[in-house]
Amino acid sequence: MTAVQVGELVADIAREAGDLAKRRRAEGVSLAATKSTLADIVTEADREVEQLIRDRIRTERPDDGFLGEETGAERGASGLTWVVDPIDGTVNYAYGIPTYSVSIAVVEGEPNPESWQGVAAAVCAPGLGELFTAARGEGACLDGVRLSVTTETPAGALLATGFGYDPATHDGDLAMVRQVMPIARDLRRMGSAAIDLAYVAAGRLDGFFERGLNPWDFAAGAILVHEAGGLVSRLELDAPRPMVIAGGPVVHAELQRLIGGAQNNM
Ligand code: IPD
Ligand code: CA
Repeated sequence: MTAVQVGELVADIAREAGDLAKRRRAEGVSLAATKSTLADIVTEADREVEQLIRDRIRTERPDDGFLGEETGAERGASGLTWVVDPIDGTVNYAYGIPTYSVSIAVVEGEPNPESWQGVAAAVCAPGLGELFTAARGEGACLDGVRLSVTTETPAGALLATGFGYDPATHDGDLAMVRQVMPIARDLRRMGSAAIDLAYVAAGRLDGFFERGLNPWDFAAGAILVHEAGGLVSRLELDAPRPMVIAGGPVVHAELQRLIGGAQNNM
């Protein structure tokens, strides 16, 4: 299968999963459990959407590996792994804010963001009616229209960030905000890292930074940014919570300079 063909399958599954998430949202959301902290929630829909994605992969690509937010990891034999966040922006979803997404990436190599190579990605935001897609070497698109990151920020960079669920991390995350504000024209906290990264790819944001993301939060978005001509890195600041930064080459370099830390390009 070529990257383009994988990309078509990823987009098709993301579209179907997005439709299910939107339908369940319209029917009313029920909380299934809390996870790492009280603020870290999972809804019945997160589980059902991940199951739909997993079932489709099992049927159509039975030898591929899987790494999902709700059901964990399973190694495959093909060298490809699907990295899935069934609903990124679960808190928005639970509150009825339409900024949530289904995020699906296919990566090649060890299922570890330090070394894997992106093959294809889709971020479907059904509440916003948008589907972002990318395939290796083929660029990134929004509903079929080619995307590119911004290259100039004469009025300062429009940045986005996010905060972890553990209240103990908030002070450190706010200190990071203070560190990057000198280059910002303004700052957004939209509630879905996958959408933040898709927006960087689309040139709707100039840059993004967040500590402590999980691989399924950023795998698809990072492929979108790359294919749109941008850069994504993980900065090792305090080991368990690396910082993901993304942007066009200039904003990416400025974020790296202001935040510091050892850099792993993705
Ligand atoms: C969260 C979102 C949010 C980010 C959090 C993530 P979830 O994912 O991406 O924007 O700030 O760090 O955990 O829990 O909604 O899948
Ligand atoms: Ca997520």
